[in-house]
Amino acid sequence: MLVMTQRLHKKRALVTASAQGIGEAIARAYASEGADVLATDINSEVLQGLDTVEGIRTRTLDATDEKAIGELVTAEGPFDVLVNCAGVVHHGSVLTCTESEWDQAFNLNVKSMYLTIRACVPGMQSLGGGSIVNISSICAHRGLPNRFAYSASKAAVIGLTKSVAADFVSENIRCNAICPGTVQSPSLEGRINAFDDPEAARKAFIARQPMGRLGLASEIAAVAVHLGSDESVFTSGIQINADGGMSI
Ligand SMILES: NC(=O)c1ccc[n+]([C@@H]2O[C@H](COP(=O)([O-])OP(=O)(O)OC[C@H]3O[C@@H](n4cnc5c(N)ncnc54)[C@H](O)[C@@H]3O)[C@@H](O)[C@H]2O)c1
Repeated sequence: MLVMTQRLHKKRALVTASAQGIGEAIARAYASEGADVLATDINSEVLQGLDTVEGIRTRTLDATDEKAIGELVTAEGPFDVLVNCAGVVHHGSVLTCTESEWDQAFNLNVKSMYLTIRACVPGMQSLGGGSIVNISSICAHRGLPNRFAYSASKAAVIGLTKSVAADFVSENIRCNAICPGTVQSPSLEGRINAFDDPEAARKAFIARQPMGRLGLASEIAAVAVHLGSDESVFTSGIQINADGGMSI
């Protein structure tokens, strides 16, 4: 349940990959906390579902397109908060991961963050500060089967986050990461249904969390609200594991 407390009052926030799943939940939570949200996604059709939500405007954006990111930030920025949510999961080990899958994983899961952060930081400097929230994964810390390219790329997000935090800590620009466990989302449903026995796969995904359930996108959004808002103003360069106890 979302509690309306205006913790992001008047903050201008850019959220990538927010048509569905965790990104959508973050866009909605930010708007309900008083932010002026620019929700973006490569999928214009699904993104349109947010057009009627008060506090949210939508723009189609491929988070790997440097030119489009530059144009969007010039037209719509500066932003107080940037949430990098774009990401893709490839199934497989080092032996089955193709070079193309490896490149796709790093392009979307890591390089997109480099591009958006580089585009948004000058605006944050002009505002006197800002907050960057990067969605990593518990796979950055825990070796899970068949998550080779995903784990490597999400671990890179932690290094990227700490590097950005170090470079701009004296300018009041914070950069933190969230590491979700397994979260109910459209793409998770796709991954489950890709198994020969989807019900067994669902049970296995649930069993990974000691809490015995999947996470909700709104539970990740709650952490993103904390990190985006001034209540976390003394916090930079960390990752918060919201993972149903996977990292206990
Ligand atoms: N769902 C989970 O269990 C889980 C766990 C840990 C981390 N994550 C991370 O959370 C983020 C969101 O995952 P999810 O499962 O909630 O959402 P999802 O995978 O269901 O949706 C992803 C969204 O990204 C968009 N997208 C894909 N390519 C894009 C691009 N090039 N530019 C812009 N948008 C693009 C899609 O259109 C879609 O709306 C990802 O970074 C994912 O790795 C998810």
